[in-house]
Amino acid sequence: MASDAPDDEATITPRDNGPYFVIGSVKLVDLEGKPIPYEGRLALCRCGHSGTKPICDGSHRDSGFESVVRA
Ligand code: FES
Repeated sequence: MASDAPDDEATITPRDNGPYFVIGSVKLVDLEGKPIPYEGRLALCRCGHSGTKPICDGSHRDSGFESVVRA
């Protein structure tokens, strides 16, 4: 899928029935500005069932979460 974002900008893609995939360099911080560590590709929970919020832990698969986003 083509993106209109410049190469130096992150791209966030809502996955079908799953998390937001973040591609590119981003800094994930809490409300106090403290870094929230993550490894590898960043996937942000949007189902509300992750035990590691805001990072997706795969719980959406067993929760029945459904969301398909198309522009
Ligand atoms: S989207 Fe994966 S655990 Fe919520």
